[in-house]
Amino acid sequence: MQKQALITGITGQDGYYLARLLLSKGYEVFGMVHGQSHGRLESLRRDLPDLRVVRGDLLDLSSLLRALELSDAAEVYNLGALSFVGSSWATATVTASVTGMGVLNLLEAVRLRCGEDVKRIRFYQASSSEIFGRAREVPQSESTPFWPRSPYGVAKTFGHYMTVNYRESYGLHASSGILFNHESPRRGPEFVTRKVSQGVSRMALGLQDRIVLGNLDARRDWGFAGDYVEAMWLMLQQPDPDDYVIATGRQKSVRELLDVAFACVGVDDWTDLVVVDEENVRPAEVDSLIGDASKAEDRLAWRPKMSFEELIRLMVESDLAKLKA
Ligand code: GDD
Repeated sequence: MQKQALITGITGQDGYYLARLLLSKGYEVFGMVHGQSHGRLESLRRDLPDLRVVRGDLLDLSSLLRALELSDAAEVYNLGALSFVGSSWATATVTASVTGMGVLNLLEAVRLRCGEDVKRIRFYQASSSEIFGRAREVPQSESTPFWPRSPYGVAKTFGHYMTVNYRESYGLHASSGILFNHESPRRGPEFVTRKVSQGVSRMALGLQDRIVLGNLDARRDWGFAGDYVEAMWLMLQQPDPDDYVIATGRQKSVRELLDVAFACVGVDDWTDLVVVDEENVRPAEVDSLIGDASKAEDRLAWRPKMSFEELIRLMVESDLAKLKA
C-alpha cells in the first residue's frame, strides 16, 4: 500500500532531497508551503512533478491539522525553520516562533490527529548541531550537553527537547536527527559553502573580483545533504523512536574550504582574493563542531558517502555550469 508523507520546509535544500528520496521509494509526498505564493515553488514543481503541495503554517495549529488530514500522512518530517544562523539575532522573536514554537505546534497537531492510536504517525524533527554551540566535548554525540550560541540555536534546542518530551509524555514515535552542516548545489547563497562556491565560480568567469567573508577560522563537520536525508528516512523506519547525531566525523575550517574551492578553478593562493568584513562576524560564534555518528552507524547502518572534497567540487562545478548557461 502506498504510504503518505508530509514535509514542512519543502522549498529548502533538504525538502528537495528528502522529497526526491521518498518519491523514488514510492511514497505519495506532500510538501507544506506557507504564504500565498512562494518563489521557489515553481522550480520545485518542475523538478519534482509528482510532488503534491498543501498550504499550512507552522504558526497556525488548525492549518497543520488540516494538512495532516488532507495528506493522511503516516510520516511527518519537520524541516521548516528560519535556518540562517547569522540573521537570527536580528529576527530573534520570529526565529523563536517558527523554529521553536513551530515544532510544538506540529507535535501537538500530530498528537491530536493520532488520538488513541499514538503510533499512527511517525514524526521527524530536524534538530541541529547548533544546539551544541560552545561544545563541551569533542566530538559531539547524543549525550553531549547543549550550549546554544544564537537565537536560532536556542530555538532548535527548544524544538529538540519538545520532541523528546512528546515521545516521553505521550508515547509518540518522534525522533530527532541532530544533523551537522550539510550542503549541496541547492544550498542557499547565504551559507558559507555556497557563498564560496558561487564566489569562486563568478571570479573564474571574471564576474566578481573578491569574496567577502567573516570568521575564516570557524571549523565545521560538512557533509552532503543527499546523504543526510537518507538518515532522516531510516530513523522513521525503526521500531522505536530515538535521537541520532548525523555527521561525517571529519572537520574542516573555512580556510580549508577556500583552499579546496579555489583549487577547483586552478587558484593556489587566494589570500588577495578574500576579504574579511566584520559585518559577517557573529555576535557569539560557534567556533568548532565535529560529530560522532557511531550510534547512527550501529543502529541505522547509515554512513556518509560523499567526501568534503567531492562535495565542494560538485558545488563549484554546478555554479560554473549555471553561470555559463
Ligand atoms: N554564512 C556565512 N557567511 N558564514 C560565514 C561567513 C560568511 O560570510 N564567513 C565565515 N562564516 C562562518 C560562520 O561564522 C560559521 O562559523 C561557519 O562559517 C558556517 O556558517 P553557515 O554556513 O552560515 O552555517 P552554520 O554552521 O551557521 O549553520 C548551518 O548548519 C547548521 C547545522 O547543521 C545552517 O544550515 C543551520 O540551519 C544548521 O542547523
